[in-house]
Amino acid sequence: MLENKVAIVTGGSEGIGFGIASALASKGALVYLIARTQEKLEKAKEKIIQQGGKAYIKPADITDIEAMKKIVEGVYHENGRLDFFINNAGAWKGQSLDTPFADIWKLIEFDMKAPYELTHFLTSRFSGEKENNLRILTVASQAALKVMDSGLGYGPAKMGLVAGLFHLEEELQREGVENVRLYRLYPNTVATDKMMDAIRANQVQDPVKLESVVDAAIDLLLDKTPTRDVRIGYYPGRGIVRTYLPSEPKDFYHSENITEEVVNSSFTPKDLLK
Ligand SMILES: NC(=O)c1ccc[n+]([C@@H]2O[C@H](COP(=O)([O-])OP(=O)(O)OC[C@H]3O[C@@H](n4cnc5c(N)ncnc54)[C@H](OP(=O)(O)O)[C@@H]3O)[C@@H](O)[C@H]2O)c1
Repeated sequence: MLENKVAIVTGGSEGIGFGIASALASKGALVYLIARTQEKLEKAKEKIIQQGGKAYIKPADITDIEAMKKIVEGVYHENGRLDFFINNAGAWKGQSLDTPFADIWKLIEFDMKAPYELTHFLTSRFSGEKENNLRILTVASQAALKVMDSGLGYGPAKMGLVAGLFHLEEELQREGVENVRLYRLYPNTVATDKMMDAIRANQVQDPVKLESVVDAAIDLLLDKTPTRDVRIGYYPGRGIVRTYLPSEPKDFYHSENITEEVVNSSFTPKDLLK
């Protein structure tokens, strides 16, 4: 279904990024995995190949924007196309009032500045390539939508990132650009491998299963969702719910335009421990 399509996934060696990369590869796309650690990238690539997919690896730090630009140019040059860019690498880090602001700033540079700059570069670079349709999916977080505990740094970064993306969205609209489209995913807590110890120790509230988050990402990229902004999470008593938020910049904060879909009513976090 996605044969001949080309995707770049940042943070593609594990967690949500690997989930999205392997789902795209299982549908036939050629995926380029980006992360800092070569070994983890090699393992991720092997898994995708064993599943019958096609993958290459490009070790890089997303905060090195010049290196990232070179990777994008290289992939476009090698394949003559770039269909999907998954802006996924990011990290949560708890902070307190004692945390030096330099550390908070570093997190903001990673969770906000880097993915914003990458998107800005991609929108400028590809808006003139009219025959190349590029879909950029950013993995934000529920933290972009509400103030959360211990989220100094992470929450403001994700909020700022989404604000920046809507700014770019407005620019694209103003300039009549149709071949570059932005999509945003806002997961609640996700049961990635890294989260499983905390889930087993009951330190994490209401995790959603990774597969449902990946399904939402793929549906977004294939325009199977009513809007290009989807929150996904587990809600006790309801199951796994997608919340479709308005993608029109001016409507984003208007709650009356929000719709919901229960995608799995039988799941409970206990299923993760089976
Ligand atoms: N897990 C959750 O509960 C959750 C909930 C909401 C939103 N999110 C968001 O979802 C995204 C993915 O989270 P995750 O939990 O799946 O992450 P994860 O399991 O920790 O994986 C992070 C990935 O990013 C790579 N990475 C880290 N720093 C990088 C850097 N500077 N440059 C390039 N790659 C880097 C990691 O590999 P290396 O370390 O080798 O570079 C790894 O491949 C993040 O944006 C996160 O904020 C996660």
